[in-house]
Amino acid sequence: NRMFRDLKTGRRTVDEITGSRRLRRMRKADWSRRLVQENRLTVDDLIWPIFVIEGEGRREPIDAMPGVFRMTLDVAIKEVERAAKLGVPAIATFPNVDRSLRDQTGSEILNADNILNRASRAIKAAVPEIGIITDAALDPFTSHGHDGILRDGIIVNDETVSQVAQAAVLQAAAGADIIAPSDMMDGRIGAIRDALDANGFQDVAIMSYATKFASAYYGPYREAIGTAGLLKGDKKTYYIDHANSEEAVREAEQDVLEGADMLMVKPGLPYLDIIRRLKDELRMPTFAYQVSGEYAMIKAAAANGWIDGEKVMMESLAAFKRAGCDGILTYFAPEVAELLKG
Ligand code: PBG
Repeated sequence: NRMFRDLKTGRRTVDEITGSRRLRRMRKADWSRRLVQENRLTVDDLIWPIFVIEGEGRREPIDAMPGVFRMTLDVAIKEVERAAKLGVPAIATFPNVDRSLRDQTGSEILNADNILNRASRAIKAAVPEIGIITDAALDPFTSHGHDGILRDGIIVNDETVSQVAQAAVLQAAAGADIIAPSDMMDGRIGAIRDALDANGFQDVAIMSYATKFASAYYGPYREAIGTAGLLKGDKKTYYIDHANSEEAVREAEQDVLEGADMLMVKPGLPYLDIIRRLKDELRMPTFAYQVSGEYAMIKAAAANGWIDGEKVMMESLAAFKRAGCDGILTYFAPEVAELLKG
């Protein structure tokens, strides 16, 4: 193998020795690729976010999220049943709240019978085997689309936290197994933990939206829950600057200290570096939220015939596993579960 000999001395070089290592050997057949595959996506990795609305027998399409619908509770129950049969471990429920019920402080979140809590009760009764995750954030309930109480142009932290903590207790009482606060107020994890414990919900877990970035990828979600037209300004005073990763680690550390059981990174694919850092540095159960804009981009390109949508979907989810995720919130969940079964 002359290529790897030193031209002057004729001696074998390190290059020659490493040259005998052929990485393609294990790639040569399906069986050998399967044998050495490092990460594998299974149905157990999936959390399915769903949108619920008032009414009966209806599903409303969401323009920028082809294949995703806002569902009345009867329809949602059927769909969740199907997901549970496919083995999807958990759902995450988001409400599109009637406009007339939204106000400056998001007071409807404190209604024990609001659409979100009714959804939890109905789903828990009909499909007890699936885990229910609820977001304790105010944005679906406020008239301005912010995740907190807005006063004089400012999102008021501590008042928001106490309201979110009360809401979490109501959500737990309605059947939520995991409270996932996405509002990014300081101190919310500790306050929610205390409130849950004080009300006998020691076994209800908290998945912190620990590192939630100020992102343009949430656009289609805001259409789905009807905050798109309402939101004044942006969320930069409470979500993390998307240029920052040290701050993201500090934020997650803080949530762990306050009692978070699981961490989440959101959005997903543009933030794989954060997922890997949290996994390595904090060693917590770590999740990614493949958000609405990520879903929309894949669906749109696929609809144009520009990419193979199914393959890109699977590749994007494999990336989360590779980055260290224990699971993924994804609108693709039922589609992926079907595929994995087949
Ligand atoms: C806000 C919230 C957001 C999402 C879920 N809860 C972001 C936002 O509207 O600012 C985004 C989910 C998605 O884009 O799929 N509490």
